[in-house]
Amino acid sequence: MKILRSLLIASAGFFFVLTLSVNAQQENNFKITCTPFLENIRTNSVAVFWEVNKNSTGWVEYGMTGNLGSVERTFKDGMADVGAGIRKVMLTGLKPGTKYFYRTVSCEIKTLEPYKVVFGDTLKSSIYAFETPAANQKEFSFLAFNDIHDAPQYIEEVIKKEKEFNFAVFDGDILTDLNDETDFTRKIFSPLSTYFAAEKPIFLIRGNHETRGAAARNLYKYFDTPDGKFYYTFTYGNTFFIMLDCGEDKPDNNKYYFGLAGYDKYRSEEAKWLEKAVKSPEFKKAKFKIACLHMPIKMNAGEDTEGGHGMYDCSKKFAPILNKAGIDLMLSGHTHKYEIIKPGKDTNRFPVIVGGAYYDAKNPLRVAYTRVNIVKNRISVELKNLNGEIVDRIEVKK
Ligand SMILES: [Fe+2]
Repeated sequence: MKILRSLLIASAGFFFVLTLSVNAQQENNFKITCTPFLENIRTNSVAVFWEVNKNSTGWVEYGMTGNLGSVERTFKDGMADVGAGIRKVMLTGLKPGTKYFYRTVSCEIKTLEPYKVVFGDTLKSSIYAFETPAANQKEFSFLAFNDIHDAPQYIEEVIKKEKEFNFAVFDGDILTDLNDETDFTRKIFSPLSTYFAAEKPIFLIRGNHETRGAAARNLYKYFDTPDGKFYYTFTYGNTFFIMLDCGEDKPDNNKYYFGLAGYDKYRSEEAKWLEKAVKSPEFKKAKFKIACLHMPIKMNAGEDTEGGHGMYDCSKKFAPILNKAGIDLMLSGHTHKYEIIKPGKDTNRFPVIVGGAYYDAKNPLRVAYTRVNIVKNRISVELKNLNGEIVDRIEVKK
């Protein structure tokens, strides 16, 4: 009996060790750690991102049918992109208003020596589809989210109710503290890819939280912007978007920035860029102009306070330019409480929508996201709760 018990214990131990070893082996296998997500779509281009856990090279296969047929990959200084972590390929030369199919392909590189390269496994993603906007498209819709703070789960429910939209804007503070770069995909981009972002593109701006922590210095790898800045513009159909970067909320000399912040100067440089952006032919030609800025420009932001300095500085530096140029709408967040700030004569001469957003399962009827519909001569803005019901709305007619 004793011998039998000893045998049973020994074999249980063996299988436990074997299971651990198999799990460790699987953990160590080459794999896709974030399925694809699309950013920054234009009439003729889109950025495709995905993530793998090991050193690899990769490319995107795409085409106008599920047979794909074209290949695009990233080269830098003549060398094909090789690395682990986030990967990015730009698809260019696309046709406006056209549906495309694509998949990502990743090929592990086990050895990369001057005269010897050893390839490992090749991993192909599922085939996804997306559609480029038509030039001067007069009708489209997008969703705006802000202050997700590492908890995008509610967006899965939103997407079940909002099947018809063209893209989504993320108005900052999607992450809270940026200590570890692997958090970016694990907490945000991987869920978003699963919900919708493999097929419907996203446009991102930073909030004040996206400046915090060592990994904040690597965030640029996850943003596709035309010139590598966190502020940029894009045109979608008949609408010109100005994506602004707010910087930190407190003064640069705040003790928690430890002498490492320089956002006053940064916002001044951004204002100079903004002055040029609103003089561009694309701005002048667009029927509607929408600005996105994490911190709302407010009438009462004339007061420079400890926690409100960023909002004050953004209002002081950006509002006069936007007022003079004439924009139709601003989408923002930051306060975690929805608000429609009406135009006034002192600071904002355009309506500012402050999204509610913050994840709170106990309060399902709060404003959780904003839906914007561009319909010929009007912008219809709907502030919605998790049930997809409209809590508040405004319209801008032209
Ligand atoms: Fe914020």
